[in-house]
Amino acid sequence: MTRKIIIDTDPGQDDAVAILLALASPELEVLGITTVAGNVPLALTTRNAQLTVGLSGREVPIVAGRDRPLNRPLVTAEYVHGQTGLDGIDLGVPQVPLNPGDGVDFIIDTLRREPEGTVTLVPIGPLTNIAAAFERAPDIVARVQQVVLMGGGYFEGGNVTPAAEFNIYVDPEAAALVLASGVDLVMMPLDVTHKALTSADWLAGLRALGTRAGEAVASWTDFFERYDREKYGSAGAPLHDPCTIAYLIRPELFSGRRINVEIETEGRYTTGMTVADWWGVSGRAPNALFIRDIDRDGFFDLLTERIATLD
Ligand code: RIB
Ligand code: CA
Repeated sequence: MTRKIIIDTDPGQDDAVAILLALASPELEVLGITTVAGNVPLALTTRNAQLTVGLSGREVPIVAGRDRPLNRPLVTAEYVHGQTGLDGIDLGVPQVPLNPGDGVDFIIDTLRREPEGTVTLVPIGPLTNIAAAFERAPDIVARVQQVVLMGGGYFEGGNVTPAAEFNIYVDPEAAALVLASGVDLVMMPLDVTHKALTSADWLAGLRALGTRAGEAVASWTDFFERYDREKYGSAGAPLHDPCTIAYLIRPELFSGRRINVEIETEGRYTTGMTVADWWGVSGRAPNALFIRDIDRDGFFDLLTERIATLD
């Protein structure tokens, strides 16, 4: 039984790897890719989604969503992802079309069309599109099978401020709305994605595939890694977003705990923080499966196995 998903994304090299993993995995049916402003402005995240789908050789609707957070100015991350947002390899110009229409409408219409409880949302950028859809069409919340998102951090702290992870920091109001919606939610925070570090051997294995997809993933990762190596002194790049897709394919590679997670939206130093009640001291009801651990080797074996099926 394939699982229907919508990927909401701000490519970004790690987003692109997540998209390739999803499109290369028969367990998943990607109903669409909606783009959001985040790592780079919307025009570029959308172009990067088109380039990534073109590289996959698959056909899937791509629909552009919001170009800024619900009610804050956009913060981008060219310092991590490069000016194009997909630096590392030149993929030319998009060869696949962009669907007309609006990404938020696409999310609403798809959830209303598909049988209730059969569509999983996989947001791997700021949560603006998801929150906008829930706000405009509250009826769709009960129709969502699950939300599996990359975002947040607690024991690991933040990556854009000491307290906040980028996806949550860019649009904390959107994140707060999604966390409060009551939807069945799995959170992949920095606590687990910082354990999903690439290695030189893994990159060499990708290059040895001799495929465009293998070369692209290795080149993106090489580019993406330089920032984390300078910042954390870590060898290897954290493959944040692919953790969400790997969870959908092989959940047994991950472990965590259902806890309460609240989003700070007004803190002078802590805006965008995911306040994760891991020890259950708040008395607040659990609203997320907060993932902390990963079978790293199993994760990278899965990635290589699936990327190897692409040209
Ligand atoms: O903090 C990591 C997240 O921010 C990832 O989704 C990365 O692509 C960026 O969007
Ligand atoms: Ca992302």
